[in-house]
Order: sequence, then C-alpha cells, then structure tokens
Amino acid sequence: MKYQGIIFDLDGVICSTDEYHYQAWKTLADQLGIPFDRERNNLLRGVSRMESLKIILEKSERTYSEQEKQAFAEQKNALYRTLLRQMSPADLSDEVRETLQFFRDCGLRLAVGSSSKNTPFILERIGLGDFFDAVADGNCITHSKPHPEVFLKAAEMLGLPPERCLVVEDAHAGVEAAVAGGFDCASMGDAKDDARAKWHVNRFSGLRGCL
Ligand code: BG6
Ligand code: MG
Repeated sequence: MKYQGIIFDLDGVICSTDEYHYQAWKTLADQLGIPFDRERNNLLRGVSRMESLKIILEKSERTYSEQEKQAFAEQKNALYRTLLRQMSPADLSDEVRETLQFFRDCGLRLAVGSSSKNTPFILERIGLGDFFDAVADGNCITHSKPHPEVFLKAAEMLGLPPERCLVVEDAHAGVEAAVAGGFDCASMGDAKDDARAKWHVNRFSGLRGCL
C-alpha cells in the first residue's frame, strides 16, 4: 500500500462545522453592513481566523484599527463556540465513523491537519477526542494553509514522510498546502474538482478507493 498514513482536514471533511463558521461570520458581517454570502464564505475555507476576517473586511467601506479587528475576531469566535456547543457525537456521521475505523483496521496511522484553534474542542464534542494518532492544528503553527506547515507537522508527529501520507481536503487553500508539502491529496466538497489533487471523491466513504 502506497500510503501509511492519512491526514484529514477537520472543518468540512470530518464534520460540518463550516456551516457554523458561515453563520458566525455572517452575523458579524451583517452587523458591520458588509456584503457576505455563502460563495464568499468559500474563500475562507482552510485559512486562519485573522486571514478570514481580512477577506471579509476587503468589502468594507471603512478601515478598522488592529484593536477593532481583534475584537471582531473574538466576537466571531465566541458566537462560533456557542454554536459548537450544540455538537455531540451524533454530529459525526456513520459514514465518517465507519470509514475512519476501516482505515484504522487497515493499519494506517491517522491524523488531523486543521488551521482551526478550536480543533481539540470540536474533536471532543463529536467524540473523537482520543481517536487520532496525531493532531496538528491552528494552535501549533505560524503559517496557515495554503502554507504546508500544518500537514508537515502532522506527518512529523506520525513519524512518516509526506510521500507516504495522503491529505484529505475540502478547501482549495488546503489542496495547495498539501501539494506544496509534497503530499498526494484527495479533494472533496468545495475543492472536489481542484486539478492539483490526485484523487477526487464525491463523499467521505469514496476515500477507500484511494488506497
Ligand atoms: C479552518 C476553517 O479549518 O479553520 C476556516 O476551514 C477557519 O474557515 C479556520 O477560518 C480557523 O478556525 P478557528 O476555529 O481557529 O477560528
Ligand atoms: Mg476544510
């Protein structure tokens, strides 16, 4: 088998927190009178909280101080975490749970590679707090996707070189990060047709065909 490990993005791959990100950013954008819709939200996939805010504020007619931007990011995150608190193990689909277990039974090492600083909280909420062999997230990186740092960190934690790991992504920024790090990538969701990915899957269980 070519791959010895799989590194999964979290938001939009393992679980549907991307909808909560959208709702929280939409509330902030409406409050500031800035146009924001689901299409624009796709630009925020995979990028860090502060970079997401920067993209949203590009459509603003006025500029904001660093202090104001920090306050906006904190406000968004507080609302986002309120939404996350509704999550439970029921928010992990049977399809994702069974496919992860299948990969584990194949003897693969499994990791998360996410830009989110809320990764540990989310994994705990959906009952995967202890599941992965490694978790690299927004708390342990200085460059977020499309920089490959988070995936390189995850591979290092797994003790595997990039060419032996498959990265699974739903964001164009994430596909770019994977390829830049020397990983094969399986793309799905918003990034499904990204030509830089080696594999293109319609759904999570389709990842079985990438082995
Ligand atoms: C990524 C999401 O997983 O995490 C992005 O795709 C988000 O949309 C980023 O901006 C940072 O998330 P957090 O939870 O640290 O604000
Ligand atoms: Mg994602």
